[in-house]
Amino acid sequence: MRIDLITAFPDSCRSPLDTSIVGRARRRGLVDIRCNDPRAWAGGWHRKVDDRPFGGGPGMVMMAEPIAGCLDFVLAQSPAPLLLMTSPQGRRLDQAWARELATREHLVVLCGHYEGIDERIVELYGPQLFSIGDYVLTGGELAALVLCDAVVRLLPGALGNADSAVSDSFSGNGPAFDHPCYTRPREFRGLPVPETLISGDHADIEKKRSHQRQERSAQREDSAQS
Ligand code: ADE
Repeated sequence: MRIDLITAFPDSCRSPLDTSIVGRARRRGLVDIRCNDPRAWAGGWHRKVDDRPFGGGPGMVMMAEPIAGCLDFVLAQSPAPLLLMTSPQGRRLDQAWARELATREHLVVLCGHYEGIDERIVELYGPQLFSIGDYVLTGGELAALVLCDAVVRLLPGALGNADSAVSDSFSGNGPAFDHPCYTRPREFRGLPVPETLISGDHADIEKKRSHQRQERSAQREDSAQS
């Protein structure tokens, strides 16, 4: 799989893309993730990528030309790229959609910034807008990184233990949360690890964990209604 991020802030993406499961998947060659800076397609001495909005108003707008140059370059590199763009108005990213995205050969993620992107980019390229929640971020980089993480961990071979993705929250039809987990020490600040977990009785452990997962899902549904 290949993922191209279009971002004027490639430095802020480096560490999350180099570490943990995403970093390992890249090193194993499961995914090729590249950060493309529209500044490389910006003209002038200062390689300006944003300007004041026509009609006035606060903030700066990302200029169409550098983004279009960058998009044309990236989109031409595979036969069927899927273009996405970060936006608080977009379709909410969820696990089912992440699973769908993980089957694609090439994702191109355009990161919004400042007050927005020149609307003609949306008109000309028709990106699919996605949101990671009902709050406004300063820039789209964090949303793009969330998408990368959610998608890459679903790629075959990305997780050390093949079962972890299956037992993860939301992997079934409805929400299913993981059971609580513990590691050493056996007692921490007066709180012991539940007896069952050190009993060695694996059937009993699974029964208890399954019950806890159901309980957590029910609690989440309750809090969503209230
Ligand atoms: N850009 C700003 N806020 C965002 C959000 N919640 N999701 C995706 N992109 C965004």
